[in-house]
Amino acid sequence: MRIGILCFRSYDAYDFKSELRLKEAAEEQGHEATLIQIQNFSLGPDGTLSLEGKKLEAFDGFISRARVIDQVENRLFWIKVLEEKGYKILNGYEALIHCKNKWFATERLRKAGLATLPTWVVEDETTACEMAEKIGYPVVVKAPYGTFGLSVEKAENETQLKAVLWKFWKPDLITPLLLQPLIEEAEGKDLRINVVGDQVVGAIQRTATQGDFRANMELGGSAEAYEPSSELAELALQAVRAFGLDYAGVDLIQTKNGPCVLEVNGNPGFLRITKITGIDVAASIIKLAVSRFQKS
Ligand SMILES: Nc1ncnc2c1ncn2[C@@H]1O[C@H](COP(=O)(O)OP(=O)(O)O)[C@@H](O)[C@H]1O
Ligand SMILES: [Mg+2]
Repeated sequence: MRIGILCFRSYDAYDFKSELRLKEAAEEQGHEATLIQIQNFSLGPDGTLSLEGKKLEAFDGFISRARVIDQVENRLFWIKVLEEKGYKILNGYEALIHCKNKWFATERLRKAGLATLPTWVVEDETTACEMAEKIGYPVVVKAPYGTFGLSVEKAENETQLKAVLWKFWKPDLITPLLLQPLIEEAEGKDLRINVVGDQVVGAIQRTATQGDFRANMELGGSAEAYEPSSELAELALQAVRAFGLDYAGVDLIQTKNGPCVLEVNGNPGFLRITKITGIDVAASIIKLAVSRFQKS
């Protein structure tokens, strides 16, 4: 089988290690895999899709690695084009669009009947302060798009809230922001449950560094292997199904009212989870790709 791995242009020192591991896993299973930089696609006036200037050769399907947090619709363009051309893609356009925006994602989960955190959206300082009073401090402020915990902040009082809001805003660029109660009982812990197809493939519990509430490992959090109960595993599977994602990393947080879905990541890194649990996530993703790309 011939599998294309769609890599998104990177403006930082991102090293494409997950993508390389997917290629290696495909080859281990006897398939051919090509790392494709999406900026090398082009379209001609008759709709011919080319890669590096040559008409796209036959691929059985693609695995997207949508490393995208801004201009999402625009940047997922090539995924949509490939779908239009009839290619099968693991983690396709619609599913990615819906999981990337934290408010739309929360809304979708809520409508699917899954537990989520109560979330307000504000785009004005005075309204934000009024909402925060109602929620009760401390509150968490999040940008609708973000990753690695970098666009998630805490405010203990109104002065801090205003400072946090203006970290996100510029006088000429004020955008919607999410407000949530801080789940203090989580004590800086969350769960990352990795799902491939309809199976849980690896889970970890992450713990924030001292003094932080964000459990992201990119912020220095630590992690250990975790065996989710069948209830948590089912919650994660349902969350992934709500978006129609083929593989995902589901973040769950334990609240005093039970577990809630924090977010569903359509481009999960899996090298750390593999290192911690010994579970070969890349191999599972390739197995799923092969079964989905099989000609019916
Ligand atoms: N309302 C909240 N209360 C407590 N902790 C939270 C809350 N929201 C997020 N967190 C913590 O912050 C981390 C990052 O938040 P998240 O919404 O997953 O953003 P990102 O997409 O940047 O990972 C979570 O993994 C969790 O540990
Ligand atoms: Mg997260």
